[in-house]
Amino acid sequence: MLSYDVIIVGGGLAGLMTSLGVVDSHKVALFSKVHPLRSHSLAAQGGLNASLGNVPGSADDNWEKHTFDTIKGSDYLADQDAVETMCRIGPEVVYELEHMGVPFSRTSEGKIAQRPFGGADYPRTCYAADRTGHVLLHTLYEQSVKKNVEVYTEWLVTSLIIKDNRAQGITALNYSTGEIVAFSARAVVLATGGYGRGYQNSTNAIINTGSGIAVAYRAGIPIKDLEFVQFHPTTLYGTNILMTEGARGEGGYLLNNKGERFMKKYAASKMELAPRDIVSRSMTTEILEGHGFENAFLHLDLRHLGEKKILERLPGIRDITIDFAGVDPVKEPIPVQPGQHYSMGGIDTNEKGETKVRGVYAAGECACVSVHGANRLGGNSLLETVTFGKIVSNQLRDFLASSKEESDKVFLDRALVKEKQRIEELFQRKGKRRYSEVRDELRRVMFTYVGIFRKEEELNTACEKVRQLKRDYRDVAVSYKTRSLNFELINTLELEGMLDLAEIISQGALARKESRGSHFRTDYPTRDDAKWMRHTLAFFTPNGLKFDYKEVKVTRYAPQERKY
Ligand code: FUM
Repeated sequence: MLSYDVIIVGGGLAGLMTSLGVVDSHKVALFSKVHPLRSHSLAAQGGLNASLGNVPGSADDNWEKHTFDTIKGSDYLADQDAVETMCRIGPEVVYELEHMGVPFSRTSEGKIAQRPFGGADYPRTCYAADRTGHVLLHTLYEQSVKKNVEVYTEWLVTSLIIKDNRAQGITALNYSTGEIVAFSARAVVLATGGYGRGYQNSTNAIINTGSGIAVAYRAGIPIKDLEFVQFHPTTLYGTNILMTEGARGEGGYLLNNKGERFMKKYAASKMELAPRDIVSRSMTTEILEGHGFENAFLHLDLRHLGEKKILERLPGIRDITIDFAGVDPVKEPIPVQPGQHYSMGGIDTNEKGETKVRGVYAAGECACVSVHGANRLGGNSLLETVTFGKIVSNQLRDFLASSKEESDKVFLDRALVKEKQRIEELFQRKGKRRYSEVRDELRRVMFTYVGIFRKEEELNTACEKVRQLKRDYRDVAVSYKTRSLNFELINTLELEGMLDLAEIISQGALARKESRGSHFRTDYPTRDDAKWMRHTLAFFTPNGLKFDYKEVKVTRYAPQERKY
């Protein structure tokens, strides 16, 4: 059996950043469902936040103001110690990335350029035109090649093996051969991104099924705050490809069918740069009240920015809108609608990225530290991946130095036998359901009943439909029997996890009888700090899903009414 000190699951920014911090001193393997350069981090456009104070209007910005904006943006659900850490080390991590070679856009003085983003009092989003995730991912991947990080490309991690509350290793499916293999590791880091593809109308790549979150859940690790689902206000109508918040940061307007900048009714001081939860709700309200186009979308107007600025700052947006909608934003407004974008919730960790299991860590979108609370500010996700990638790698080095325990290979072998049986059983089933029917219905249910606006009756419907889909899943058989490159098997395996996560989201949303950040209950429209300023924890038990709650960590920022 192959043995490593550290196994990192996920080849995006959080996984790569973690690997760079430990590969010089330890034996590391990185597992990814796709080539790391195809990770979803690539799709991040607008930038990452750090209080560098590089541009006019930001000279007196600092990490404490960034912390405050983030906590207010989170609707006071973020753990304040973790937000302080992220915002404090943000600038040094951004300079480290610059020194690795990230080609940031520049000010006329040659400093890293920064643009305004939603919910922030200063322009602090560092960017590379509208391809920031792309350049970050390429730079970190280059560094991982230079440092010889061993990458297992096109492997799905199917289970996390734990004994006596200590990481032992993983089992994983090799796409190419269809083999299921166990690997031992003294520590495992989950950095697998979000579950956006559990929703219809998502900006997420098709790999974003929440597989790492589901694996942690089935291994007994609590999942935190999963009911908080972010909808990005501007996704391209028809395909839901991201239209970066940077477009509004550069001065783009949102217009309704009367040609009005309707955000003045909802967030007069921040307008289009209010936080995402508020802009998405405002847009949905406009559409529901008949002020949209075709009852489905609104306009993002960039024409007044001029061709030169659009080509310099937003070239990717122009390419995408021309290719996918036949719209040139230099000449026409872009049709946009809110779409699922991000998961604030995830694997429960503390401010060091540690889970409750020794040697198991999580970083990036799959983790819930929690630095985003009930609503993430744009630009804080890329920041979280690199800061917590670094924090986790520091923790790993300490952990591996202090704990010399090796994995129990006999235990791992037994776990492998069980895992092979579980997967074999999918081939033996006689049921007639197709995984794609169940998955597509799941996406429709989640988007329709657990979306931007929620209420008891619809949430009950969602819970009942998800329960039915879980029953239907037992009738899903894998009809294609070849083991090599069997994407029917891979999709069927991932669907089980998507159903688990949908159950946690819908039941968690039904239980939370208040409105906070992205979780807006029309039947409980106000925030209730006395009862609900607490994190939801979801546990997998032999008797099904169970919830518990835990306190939010407050340092210096007392909850206030959230107005923009
Ligand atoms: O709009 C965007 O460019 C997305 C940024 C983010 O999700 O942080």
